[in-house]
Order: sequence, then C-alpha cells, then structure tokens
Amino acid sequence: MIKIADRVENLPPYVFAKVEKQIAERRAQGIDVISLGIGSPDLAPPKFIIDALYESALKPENHGYAGYYGTPALRRAIAHYYQQRFGVELDPNSEILPLIGSKEGLANMALAFIDPGDIALASDPGYPTYRMGAEMAGGSFYSMPLREENHWLVDFEEIPPDVAAKAPIMWLNYPNNPTGAVAPKEFLQQAIDFAREYNILICYDNPYCDLTFDDYIAPSILELPGAKEVAVEFNSLSKTYNMAGWRIGMAVGNAEAIRALTVVKTNIDSGIFRPIQDAATVALMGDQSWIAERNKIYQRRRDIVLEWLPKVGMSAEKPKGSLYVWAKVPEGRKADEFALELLDKAGVWITPGTAFGQYGDGYMRISICISEERLKEAGERLSKI
Ligand SMILES: Cc1ncc(COP(=O)(O)O)c(C=O)c1O
Repeated sequence: MIKIADRVENLPPYVFAKVEKQIAERRAQGIDVISLGIGSPDLAPPKFIIDALYESALKPENHGYAGYYGTPALRRAIAHYYQQRFGVELDPNSEILPLIGSKEGLANMALAFIDPGDIALASDPGYPTYRMGAEMAGGSFYSMPLREENHWLVDFEEIPPDVAAKAPIMWLNYPNNPTGAVAPKEFLQQAIDFAREYNILICYDNPYCDLTFDDYIAPSILELPGAKEVAVEFNSLSKTYNMAGWRIGMAVGNAEAIRALTVVKTNIDSGIFRPIQDAATVALMGDQSWIAERNKIYQRRRDIVLEWLPKVGMSAEKPKGSLYVWAKVPEGRKADEFALELLDKAGVWITPGTAFGQYGDGYMRISICISEERLKEAGERLSKI
C-alpha cells in the first residue's frame, strides 16, 4: 500500500481542476457547455510579443536552463514597468524576482514564511492558493471575511490580536478576485499600519492592476510611503499581457522577502524558459497602448453580463476591475446548488462563490473571458430557465 502525505490527503482538490473534468465530460456527451468559469484570457498577446518569443526560440543557446534569478534584462524591464506604471523604484538585483506564473510564487511564499503553528491571514472569498499554500506548508490560515457592506475590504479590527500575533504573512488582493472590488489608498495605508503593529509581511497580489474599467487606475501597494518595509507585491503577465499559458510573473518589493522566496525557488525549480523571459521583457518595455483598447473589450463584456443578470434573478455591482462579475444568487438559494442547476438546465457553468472560501456563499463569479456572442447566448439560455 502506498501512503500519500497527510498534507495532500487533507487538501481539497483544486476546484477548477475538478470542474474542468465535469465540463469535459458533458462536452464529450455532445453538450455545448458555455463556461464562464475560469479567468483565462481568451485573446492573444500582440504580434510583437509573439515575434520576440519566436526570435529568441530560434537561438540554439536559448534552450538550456535559463538561470535561477531571471535574466538581468527581464529584471530591469520589471523595474522599468514599475517605474513607468506606478512611479515605484525597484532595485533589479535585490527587490525583483521573476516567477513561473505568480501562482508558483504564492504557493512557495508559504514555504518561505509559514512554520507549523503559524497562521496565514487570507481574505475570504479569495484566491484558493493563499489558504492551501499555508496548509501545505504545515501551518493554517485565518479567513478575513470580505463583506458587501464593507465594499469587500478587509476589516483589520475584526482580526483577533492573538491570531495576528501568530501570522507571519497576510494576503490581500485588489482589484479583487472574485469580487471585482478595488481598494482605495487609505485602505492600503490601514493595511500597512496593521502589518507594522504585528510584524506581518503583506503579500499584495496585484495581477489585475491593468485590467480596469471606466477610467479607474489601480495602484501598487508599493506606491505608499514605507510600504517596502512590510510588503511584497506579486504581479503577473497572465492577465495584463494575455499571457496566462506562458507562465510568467514576478515578486517585487521587500528585499528580505525576495531573498527568502529565492532560497525556496532555487531548491525547487530551475528557472523560466529563456524565450518566454525575452518575450516578457519586450512586453514590459514595449508599447502599452493596446492594453487600454483590450480593456474596452472586457468592459463591453462586463456590461453585457450586467444587462442580463436581472433577467436571471441575479444582481451585481459594476466592477471597476478584474475579469469577473460577482453576482448575488437569487434569494434563498445556495451558490453550489444553483451553479449545478444552471449547468444542467442551461449548459452554462458559473463558479459558485464557495469555491473561493466560506464567505463566498450567496454569490457566483462570472468570468468575462469569452466572446460577446457567447456571453449573450449564455444570458439568453439562462433567462429561459
Ligand atoms: C488573484 C489571483 N492571483 C494569482 C493568480 C495566478 O496568476 P498566474 O497566472 O500569474 O499564476 C490568479 C489567476 O487567476 C488570480 O486570480
């Protein structure tokens, strides 16, 4: 009999992996499922980025291990992006670490900071890796509830002091997945003050900073004075540059945190494929104007969803950022049951809020990574049931 580690046996299967299987089964039966489930951009990066990948891949020397720390050019490009986009200065040698997609960094961050007995503070509903990373590292997590009446912002006063005292790290994410909420700078200041009081490292997860609508511009937490003393920011090319499948992201900010994460990573992985790094460098250094045009596409899709929601008995606030509409399920319904009913009756998959934590019940996350035509069809199908 083989024995699987408790840390794996006790872990729930990754929600989206499970659902992907269920959808594939229905598709195999010939059912045309429209999935509004996952936040994977359906549009390609511009040609100049793909050309850079190709050009780099033509060079024989670019197919070996590419080094542990990312190329100097990529680290400089990340510094350039943070300077141009947020006015934040970063030292490419000590304050920047390229990642194999930010999810990799989020999970490894727990190995770098969580010992048995430690607690990671994680917003709930939230990206599952914040919570599961802590459990895999042998610690636990404390769910910081995000509530509608608080505009989906964490209320730091709710966190018991004895829990905060056992927490080396705290996960925050705005523009938020799954709620689409955004955070004002006063909130970020409150987070920094709280982190200082309890010696907590803020892990600010910012992959949607360039996925914003209606002229809203999302900040980096590193824009706030003194933030680097208590914060590290995770960012990604997945959503900003339509490069989710390429697997490239970054951790930036607090140099000690970057050093600790580097120790974990150098023992686990062997770097990012060089042509991907070269193309990412070009993406970060090159023309950024296409991003605003691309966001108009998402904004139109968001508005299509907001238009059909009431016909389906659901409602939502208009999100200023992210790739999601966070919709309230009809009164008295449980999100999980309702999601399965929509899948069975309309062939439309929408992720129940419970996939993002206990405080997600009563809501569903509608992803807008699908064409206007299919989004409209989803609305039509749903309004008929
Ligand atoms: C909040 C959040 N953080 C991190 C990630 C992971 O992104 P990446 O593709 O960089 O691993 C996602 C992806 O959906 C996300 O929604």
